[in-house]
Amino acid sequence: MYTTDFSRQTQSDASPGPAEDAAQNDRFQARIDADQTIEPKDWMPAAYRKTLIRQMSQHAHSEVVGMLPEANWITRAPTLKRKAILLAKVQDEGGHGLYLYSAAETLGVSRDDMIDALHKGKAKYSSIFNYPTLTWADIGAVGWLVDGAAIMNQVPLQRCSYGPYARAMVRICKEESFHQRQGFEIMATLMKGTDAQKAMAQDALDRWWWPSLMMFGPSDDNSPNSAQSMKWRIKRNSNDELRQKFVDVTAPQAEAIGLVVPDPDLSWNEARGHYDFGDIDWDEFFAVIAGDGPCNADRMAARRRAHDEGAWVRRAALAYDRKTRAKAAA
Ligand SMILES: [Fe+2]
Ligand SMILES: [Fe+2]
Repeated sequence: MYTTDFSRQTQSDASPGPAEDAAQNDRFQARIDADQTIEPKDWMPAAYRKTLIRQMSQHAHSEVVGMLPEANWITRAPTLKRKAILLAKVQDEGGHGLYLYSAAETLGVSRDDMIDALHKGKAKYSSIFNYPTLTWADIGAVGWLVDGAAIMNQVPLQRCSYGPYARAMVRICKEESFHQRQGFEIMATLMKGTDAQKAMAQDALDRWWWPSLMMFGPSDDNSPNSAQSMKWRIKRNSNDELRQKFVDVTAPQAEAIGLVVPDPDLSWNEARGHYDFGDIDWDEFFAVIAGDGPCNADRMAARRRAHDEGAWVRRAALAYDRKTRAKAAA
């Protein structure tokens, strides 16, 4: 997934750069309004570039950090088949990170700098990956809910105004659909099992439901940059619209397999044609993105360690590249 909108913290991003001329800006906006894509070599406002770099790098970091909670269960998957599926899924997420780092590099930022910002705690990633995966059912809940929320967010991004981002999303969305299905299938299988398996599935839903709703970011009245992102067609739907869509799709799925969504206020509203649902604990959300979630320190330590331990691979790749070029030159 996973582009949580953290725009509450960056209110100054949308102000136009002083050196930009109004005519250029108007031509740019006209292209956006005509649904043309913006490509790397095209002129773009500095604030548009900055917003995209922030969003795409956060998205890439989320894919890569998101591998950690699931990798936790690869060695303990209950069957060989489950292990193979989970391995494939976690590898997909690594691939999503690579497409997104590459797409973000077309905006003039280097992958090294983006990764450095993550490791120094300057760049964010989705709050959801700071929660632990305690049981096998959590792998089902993550696929079903977290990848499910990711799809809601990413399908409209296929029509994002920035071409490289939109194109990266097409393949990512196909893979996310597989992730969501495999997660739901794990939950459905557990719900056909013993009482202990049913209780494990319910416990996983109880812990992942609210953090999944938080993945869509702050409510619309607390998301001041959303309007600018919508005007630029980086974003096509508001946070609350996407969250509602997710609840509308997911609540009947829970019911279909006998799970109870942990929200006493959840009920179908015939007049609105949508589910009503309870209030989100935004204090928890902002605490987790500020670094106080249950696993923030572990996740960052794991990423830094992986980067350090991979240094020899990067050095070897560079040495090989130098050798190949020297040979070609000779
Ligand atoms: Fe992904
Ligand atoms: Fe995924």
